[in-house]
Amino acid sequence: MSVPEAIVVRPIAEADLDQVTSLWQAAGVSRPWNDPAADIAFARRGPHSTILLAEQAGRVVASAMVGEDGHRGWVYYVAVDPALQGGGLGRAIMCAAEQWLAGRGVWKVQLLIREDNARARGFYERLGYRDTRTSCLQKVIGQQARAGSARTRQGP
Ligand SMILES: CC(C)(COP(=O)(O)OP(=O)(O)OC[C@H]1O[C@@H](n2cnc3c(N)ncnc32)[C@H](O)[C@@H]1OP(=O)(O)O)[C@@H](O)C(=O)NCCC(=O)NCCS
Repeated sequence: MSVPEAIVVRPIAEADLDQVTSLWQAAGVSRPWNDPAADIAFARRGPHSTILLAEQAGRVVASAMVGEDGHRGWVYYVAVDPALQGGGLGRAIMCAAEQWLAGRGVWKVQLLIREDNARARGFYERLGYRDTRTSCLQKVIGQQARAGSARTRQGP
């Protein structure tokens, strides 16, 4: 196992918005119907969710949005700077997300993988994640602050 050198894992702060948005775009986890600024604000609005960042030499190099819904933990926006992928940062940020959840009494964590993302599947399986053999169904039930955006389209 490779261990990334000198990283600091911390919750996102207001000043990180641009760097995190760039990281998500570079890593390919952004989607046109998801506004990064709105998603970041929503994850930061209360104690049940946050975005954890790994910082190396003052630069944001990995992220994981983590939260609990009263039953399970969930992880989204797991992203590593493409130039640094394969160096242990993904494992490190997932470990931090799991610890965040465990510290709140959550004992199971789930995540969604796009069907065409075989690489991410291999990564998560290496970390011990297993297919639950269930389907994820979704329905848009509100517009919130996103009215006027492409938010009505469905997607994780
Ligand atoms: C997926 C991603 C987060 C993984 O991060 P990473 O830093 O490249 O992964 P790591 O180097 O920490 O790998 C951790 C372990 O998984 C293994 N691994 C990584 N990818 C793997 C794969 N496709 N198949 C099997 N094992 C894999 C590594 O060998 C390593 O094993 P070890 O720690 O036991 O030696 C990163 O590649 C990424 O940002 N991808 C683009 C965005 C994305 O797809 N995110 C997931 C959305 S669901």
